[in-house]
Amino acid sequence: MNVAAVILAAGQGTRMKSDLPKVLHRIAGLPMIEWCVRAAEAATGTDAGASRPTVVVGYGREQVEAVLGDRCRFAVQAELLGTGHAVRQALPVIPAGAEALLVTYGDMPLLTGATLRALVAAFAAERPAIAMLTVTRDDPQGFGRIVRSADGAVQAIVEEADCTPEQRVIRELNPGIYCFDADWLAGALERIQPSAKGEYYLTDAVALAVADRRRVVALPAPAAEVNGVNTRVHLALAEAVLRERICEEHMLAGVTIVDPRTTYIDAECVIGRDTRILPGCLLQGKTIIGAQAEIGPYTQIVNGHIGDGCRAAQSVIEDARMDAGAEIGPFGHLRKGAHLGEGVHMGNFGEVKNSYLAPGVKMGHFSYIGDAQIGENVNIGAGTITCNFDGTRKQPTRVGRDVFIGSDTMLVAPVTLGDGARTGAGSVVTHDVPAHGLVYGVPARPPRSQGGNARDGADVEG
Ligand code: UD1
Ligand code: CA
Repeated sequence: MNVAAVILAAGQGTRMKSDLPKVLHRIAGLPMIEWCVRAAEAATGTDAGASRPTVVVGYGREQVEAVLGDRCRFAVQAELLGTGHAVRQALPVIPAGAEALLVTYGDMPLLTGATLRALVAAFAAERPAIAMLTVTRDDPQGFGRIVRSADGAVQAIVEEADCTPEQRVIRELNPGIYCFDADWLAGALERIQPSAKGEYYLTDAVALAVADRRRVVALPAPAAEVNGVNTRVHLALAEAVLRERICEEHMLAGVTIVDPRTTYIDAECVIGRDTRILPGCLLQGKTIIGAQAEIGPYTQIVNGHIGDGCRAAQSVIEDARMDAGAEIGPFGHLRKGAHLGEGVHMGNFGEVKNSYLAPGVKMGHFSYIGDAQIGENVNIGAGTITCNFDGTRKQPTRVGRDVFIGSDTMLVAPVTLGDGARTGAGSVVTHDVPAHGLVYGVPARPPRSQGGNARDGADVEG
């Protein structure tokens, strides 16, 4: 059966009290609408573009279209005249030959593809005018009420504002998820009359189907999936549910999450087998973590690439990379473009930005490395700083392999230290140092006699 999905997302979401269109508020790392699109794709397939969902946009449409891009077709609803009117705007955009229209609302991010597939299957089996989900619960949350006749057949959906006192107490509710006979709906939408407020309610299609003596099939929805997001309180509730789902998926795939309640993993993160996530971690954006790593406690990683067996404790890692076996923390900060090679050890209170530290580098304590290339097995003494900003521009630092940088060395960039060079504690290095050269002092100079000891003063080790 040929199914086309339509997602209604033209509303502003007034109750969010936001400048951002409601459907672009993020939940577990994705805009709300993205969750809805994924569920729709899971129910209709994604092959050949023919089944791309149609999104009805209105408020903030440029922003919504920019976020979704080519993944979706777009229909514009210039005036927000209700959900029925919105679906009508979508009809010209829907691919020809669609037999069924799966309609969902863009503020239902918890709805799963599996539930939508079950709805489509029910439609395919019985070919009614409408197959829809309903949910029964004590808190009606402003949802439309499902009105049934004495014999139990669905008669109508009545919006809360239009309910009689008897209808108001009905606890079978309309979550707003339907699969329509496409041909029938096209005619029905033309027959829907405006409400007292001038809105065309999609929900009125149910009474029209009954009047047409067409079947209406109601399927119970999993209650947890049909919590709409209308306020930021709902947003936080939805976030909690999706976060729990994400943690569960990782745990079932072999990741240890010591405390899922304090673990915040975005939808796009990838984590390898036997990695342990300790309490209090945020793994955000497109973070990828290898196998056998240990992250946390209290670590935030945004778009990080973390190799197998790495460790990161109480650290912040943004747009940065750690190769296998590298470690950081406690209290380390990797900023954009930081890259720790295999087995690099970065201890407490270090910051690295736009720099590569080659395999075997040790940077134990209190250092800032920016715009630098550090060769293999270099020892970066405690308190070493690359003075990379000359007041106007960022300047590079190059350090060869097996260099020993004494504690509290200032590397005033641009500057190069050759392989095997050494600096004394407290050196302020303003000139390049040749391979195997030794400098110390302020400004740093080579010793008068080659036997001079640049490690005079206290180097911190270990
Ligand atoms: C709607 C249903 C109600 C249901 C509830 C479930 C109607 C008339 N009512 O009410 O029965 O219980 O959802 O959440 O359908 N939208 C447009 N264009 C419009 C109006 C709305 O695209 O002109 C979009 C909104 O962006 C939103 C969705 O449709 O994503 C639902 O609109 P909303 O105003 O939230 O409907 P409810 O009052 O919640
Ligand atoms: Ca709503």
